[in-house]
Amino acid sequence: MTKGIGLSATSELKEDDSNDDKVKPAQQGQTSDKSAQVLLRRPLSEDGADVHQLIGSCPPLDTNSLYCNLLQASHFSGTSVAAELDGELVGFISGYIIPERPDTLFIWQVAVAEQGRGLGLAGRMLREILARPACTAVRHLETTITPDNDASWALFRSLARKLDADCADSVMFDRERHFKGQHDSEMLLRIGSFDAPRNEVAG
Ligand SMILES: CC(C)(COP(=O)(O)OP(=O)(O)OC[C@H]1O[C@@H](n2cnc3c(N)ncnc32)[C@H](O)[C@@H]1OP(=O)(O)O)[C@@H](O)C(=O)NCCC(=O)NCCS
Repeated sequence: MTKGIGLSATSELKEDDSNDDKVKPAQQGQTSDKSAQVLLRRPLSEDGADVHQLIGSCPPLDTNSLYCNLLQASHFSGTSVAAELDGELVGFISGYIIPERPDTLFIWQVAVAEQGRGLGLAGRMLREILARPACTAVRHLETTITPDNDASWALFRSLARKLDADCADSVMFDRERHFKGQHDSEMLLRIGSFDAPRNEVAG
């Protein structure tokens, strides 16, 4: 059994499931001034093109079609997050609830522009998604990471610590079996179980 992580008590982090949420300030008090200026919100379909550009500027992420990013920013908006600094998209996470496992959030891609890195932004964006109404029933988080992506391993292991949850990794998509040697293996990292984070508890 695990404890849930807390999010800022700031009311601006509270939200509903509507797709026209306004921009919300990031958590205050535990981050730098620059980080506090970053605004987190649900993506809109109009973000799709900027998402496409951001992903392209964040190796080693694989780019998807612009159409795919449009779908992420519309159909998957409730489990994705956009981060804005001075009106520019500086971060994006795409995620979805695994259709046959409604207690599991799958994080598809995490991207933070170079100017936004090292501020705790990716971690905050993950916790923002977990606090959404769409994630009320979520008790596990899964993602895949290539073996050499140290930043990504650090990000998700840090999240697991904050959730006080276990981590397990295994091969999900194998270099030879699935990628025909064209891509590194993608390791499945499964975190959980944990209680759903709550907005009202400081963390
Ligand atoms: C990975 C990435 C999203 C991290 O974004 P970020 O906002 O700088 O990350 P955070 O500041 O929230 O850091 C979260 C944790 O990861 C650690 N971390 C971040 N970057 C790291 C790096 N390059 N090497 C080692 N650890 C790193 C931080 O120290 C922090 O750990 P802590 O909570 O124990 O202090 C960003 O570097 C990025 O977009 N990289 C390119 C795309 C990518 O690889 N995405 C992940 C695969 S989906």
